[in-house]
Amino acid sequence: MNKFYSVRPVLDKNLKQLYIETYGCQMNVNDSEVVLSLLQKEGYSLCENISEADLILVNTCSIRDNAEQRIWGRLDVFRLEKKKRPGVLVGILGCMAERLKEKLLEHPAVDLVAGPDSYRDLGKLIKALSTDGKQMNTILSSEETYADISPVRMDRNGVSAFISIMRGCNNMCSYCVVPYVRGRERSRNPESILKEATDLINNGYREINLLGQNVDSYMWKDPEKPEECVNFASLLRMVAELDPEIRVRFSTSHPKDISDELIYTMSEYPNICRHIHLPVQSGNDRILEKMNRKYDRKKYLERVAKIREVMPDCAISTDIIAGFCSETEEEHQDTMSIMREVGYDSAFMFQYSMRPDTKAYRHFQDDVPPETKTRRLNEIIALQNELSAESNKKCIGRIFEVMIEGFSKRSDKEMFGRTSQNKVCVFPANGEKPGDKVMIKVNSCTSATLLGERIDINQ
Ligand code: SAH
Ligand code: SF4
Ligand code: F3S
Repeated sequence: MNKFYSVRPVLDKNLKQLYIETYGCQMNVNDSEVVLSLLQKEGYSLCENISEADLILVNTCSIRDNAEQRIWGRLDVFRLEKKKRPGVLVGILGCMAERLKEKLLEHPAVDLVAGPDSYRDLGKLIKALSTDGKQMNTILSSEETYADISPVRMDRNGVSAFISIMRGCNNMCSYCVVPYVRGRERSRNPESILKEATDLINNGYREINLLGQNVDSYMWKDPEKPEECVNFASLLRMVAELDPEIRVRFSTSHPKDISDELIYTMSEYPNICRHIHLPVQSGNDRILEKMNRKYDRKKYLERVAKIREVMPDCAISTDIIAGFCSETEEEHQDTMSIMREVGYDSAFMFQYSMRPDTKAYRHFQDDVPPETKTRRLNEIIALQNELSAESNKKCIGRIFEVMIEGFSKRSDKEMFGRTSQNKVCVFPANGEKPGDKVMIKVNSCTSATLLGERIDINQ
């Protein structure tokens, strides 16, 4: 075994069995790993099926209504499981727990509700269930970063791992529920981030993904030496310098905050991946203002131009919302045109979903008809498919360093990995293993994948 402590789950059928289901963003995935770490200390072991579980935990997301509807559907499944096997406990964690509190606790399938800042309390809450009935803690903290908890990794490949560098969000985009369910923004002590990264590297991980809702506003001030602060560019530099063979990624960047210093820092380190996720949301200035994004189209395009000037090979991806309150057809066309202008490599695209308590909910009308939202979203998706295909076609004939993540889903004769630009690349297997870096010449592509073959660059 490894001489360092294990970052992988301890699997022991003699212990109490814990099943964890995770929805939402990468930060939730990482939070589930924190929860597993805390509950292993309470004597639980991870299991793979609901039918084996003594305790079922669901880490939830509130970002759009359909994310919440899925969870309500799952609760009916857990209710049946509890009927079959009385004594099984069900806990709801995460953003929906924070938002709905008692409304979730009242559901017959639910024993426990715990918000994102209360996971240290889980052991105590679970113990209290047997004597005091249903339990809840949804208190948000302005300090909790779980800095001293070493997450237990649940990924399958052992190659790529997340590290949360901050929690919460202060940006108050008018459509967004995150500031309400995750609380105030707080940055984590860089020492604890470097320690976690070092432990991952010592356990064989080859790629580190730094997470925050707005990584560009990361700022650590040492309470004892307040004049010495660490911003995101310096944190990224420190992580990249741990080991030049380890790839470093990060998300999410905010167009209002991404600095020249960060862009130049990336360009200095070949192991910082050439990919920036830079959500634009809309290409229209009136809508951006109404969304409270604090940049306009011109400023966004200026940031893109800077990235391209310093790192011509850097991929840029985005998030887009179709049909925000009062969006006109012309304003939708502005989103389509900024997509063409930037030529995004990939995108996450959504229909606007009104979230209770947000500024948009309180002050604006959700007045774009659902069929119009759907049509606009479909136009955006069709355009992005074209742009992704174009971006992939440009890779044909070129050679990329690919870090292998595993066997391809379709065949065990093929492996897949990612380029620095985050493009998935599939190639014939020849004894490689996950974590290896290989040089791949791209021969063809689809809009989602590059297809290539290994080459020996010394030839
Ligand atoms: N912090 C990140 C985004 C986190 S949420 C950022 O600022 O970019 C991920 C994405 O969900 C957002 O970028 C946005 O495109 C989408 N989203 C957030 N709230 C939404 C809502 N109410 N309806 C539809 N999409 C939404
Ligand atoms: Fe939501 Fe805006 Fe914060 Fe992103 S930056 S999490 S979209 S409020
Ligand atoms: Fe969803 Fe919460 Fe993430 S609302 S997107 S899980 S921060």
